[in-house]
Parts: sequence; structure tokens; C-alpha cells
Amino acid sequence: MRPEVQVRLIKQLETHLDAGTNVDAGGLMRNPTSVYIDPDLAEREWNEFFVGHPQIVGLSGALAKSGSFMTIDDLGVPILATRDADGQFRAFVNSCRHRGSLVEERERGEDATSFSCPFHNWTYGLDGKLIGLTKPDHFGDIDTACMGLVELPTAERHGILWLHPDPAGTIDVDALLGEELSDEFESWNFDGLRLLGGDTYDVACNWKLAMDTFGETYHFPVLHSNSLNLTFHGNVQCYDTFGRNHRMLLCRREIDEMLKLPENEWRATTAGLPAYWLFPNVQLLPSEFGCFLVRAYPTPGNAGNHVSRISFYVWPGVEADSSTEDILRTIGDTFASIIRDEDYVVAASQQKAANEGSLEHVLFGRNEPALHHYHSTYRAALGMEPLPLLADQDAV
Ligand code: FES
Ligand SMILES: [Fe+2]
Repeated sequence: MRPEVQVRLIKQLETHLDAGTNVDAGGLMRNPTSVYIDPDLAEREWNEFFVGHPQIVGLSGALAKSGSFMTIDDLGVPILATRDADGQFRAFVNSCRHRGSLVEERERGEDATSFSCPFHNWTYGLDGKLIGLTKPDHFGDIDTACMGLVELPTAERHGILWLHPDPAGTIDVDALLGEELSDEFESWNFDGLRLLGGDTYDVACNWKLAMDTFGETYHFPVLHSNSLNLTFHGNVQCYDTFGRNHRMLLCRREIDEMLKLPENEWRATTAGLPAYWLFPNVQLLPSEFGCFLVRAYPTPGNAGNHVSRISFYVWPGVEADSSTEDILRTIGDTFASIIRDEDYVVAASQQKAANEGSLEHVLFGRNEPALHHYHSTYRAALGMEPLPLLADQDAV
């Protein structure tokens, strides 16, 4: 993050702390609970935001070197992503061109030179080309140049990996991020991050409820009273939007000491935790040690379920020895377990309420602007009626 942006945001946090205030969306918003259970809406979201939309599938460190690969099964089509011999990020439909078997079944690896189909051993290069055909004299004289894995569009910018699950899809990173956020991401140097670990949670809640848990710090002193609240001031945050995306800056308690330092020593990652919400399903949270990436995927055919994939990356140089690495792993595991054991437990209870029809609407407060923006954004993207901003007294 650019130094001038860091100072501006930290001053906002300081002002809120001094005055006992928080961000204010200017009104409240009522959100119909049907958006968490409606199967038709879930299908439209799936088509518009997932199978029909560019997807962030990791940071560059997830494919650290030539020969790195990962398989992805969250987007309706089996995907094999690789870093080829030239260091280029590539993605393919993970289906053999002979008769469609999965070519690679492992979740990830680092030293592949080729991928051999387990059925009849057709073999593909890191660039997807068919480089080995078993018994061509028996099989038939086919043009192997046309029988590579079906390639998917990819883009790698600012240390972020995008792919499109549709071979005919397009990815315009400039349009997805916009100029201001592109510039901010450029300043982070995410491309140096190394993948350290992660976890996957299959949770009985709609994918938007999972995203919603990242949308405010109003809950920190309550839900996270014995975890995050020990290191964060709840009820204090900065909030900015960038088109369909946004950035919150959560407020760490370390800010109290840091504010005594000269401004040129202020750091956003000491004063707070930046939390970028990248439309439609990604949270990116860079810290002093590294970066958390959270991706939430709907479960097709079940609006009340989703899968969250949480990855933890570390900055180069911070894992100087094995004990540091253990500490970093503990930090990553602790963060993931708070999401699983605290946030997602509540999200599942919200889902239960929505399923049972116990409430027609839920309420987003003035202090929850991220929820206003997120729900307004996806509704607009689907051509749905906007949710009006309500005066306090009109909201109930
Ligand atoms: S299906 Fe892959 S080699 Fe036959
Ligand atoms: Fe939380």
C-alpha cells in the first residue's frame, strides 16, 4: 500500500478511536433472507459469477516455479493449472482428449514435467500439448497437434492468478480491479509471497453468508471476545470501494503504540489488517507476515451450502528458520480455525434461520457498509432491484 494511503487511513482510524465513532454508511439496509435460499437465484449466481466470470484461484506463490501444478474442482469443470517451462501460468480442462478421464488427480505438486492419463497413458506437457500417444499405429494416425488439453484463459498480474472456467471467456484485469486498486496492488508485491498452508471448510451456509462474516468488525468484541478481540479494536474500521471491490482496514490494538511514532514509521499492517473483497467471492488479507486468501464457492444445487478455501502465504524472508516457520503455521492455522469455529458457526445458524423462514429480512447497520456495498453490487450485477438506504426509524 502506498505510504500516503497508509497515513491517510491510519489517521481515519485515529480519529474514530479518539471520537468513539466508526464508519457510517449513512443509513441502514434490509436484506431479504430469500437471497440465501432461493434456488433460482443460486443458479443465476453460479452461471454469472462463477462458471461465467473470471476467477482468482490463488496467488503466484501457489505455482511457485516451472513444474508446479494444482487441480481445481470448484467451478463446474475440472481444471489443471500449471506453470510451464517458460514460467507462464496456464490452465486447462483436466479431461483427457482421448475419452475424458481426469489427467491429473493430485491436488498439487511442484516437480511435474508432464501429465500422464491413468487410463491409456496419453501424456501432456506442462503447456497442455499432447506429447505422448500410446500405440499410435494401433490407435490411428491422428493429428496430435490438435489434441492438446483444452486451454482456459489465464492472467497473472500483481501476483494474483486469474482463470476463466469457460474456454471462450475473457479476462480483463484492468476492468476487474480498476486503476486505483491496480496501483495499490502493484505496491504490495504479492508476487513474492510463498504458499505455506491452508484449509478447506464445507459449511452449511450460503456462500454469501460466508463472505458476510468478513464485512464488519461490529462482531469482534462479542463473537471473537476471546480471539480476535484481544488483538483488534472492534467497531473501528476504514472503508473504501473500488468499483465492485472494496477495502476495509481493520484496527489492531498495536495502533495505540504506533501512533506515538513519527508518521513516516506508520504501517497499515501494524495499525490494522487490510481486508480486500474482490468480487465475487474472494477475501485477500495482507499482514506483516504474509497474506490470507479466502475463496468461497457455492455448492451447485444447494443454496444452503458452500465450500471455503483458506490459504496462507508468507512474505519472502520472514521464514528464516524452522521455528519461525512453525510460528507462522500456527498463526495461519489459528486464523483459519477462528473462521471455522466462530464465524462459520454463526453463518450456519443464520442459514438455518433463512431455511426455516423465521425472518423475511435481516438488517445491515450504518456501521456495516461493506455489507451494503457487497449486496448492492451483486444485485446490480444480476439486474435485481436495488436495496434502498433507510433512515434509522424506517428500517424496522
Ligand atoms: S482416457 Fe486418457 S488415455 Fe484414454
Ligand atoms: Fe469474524
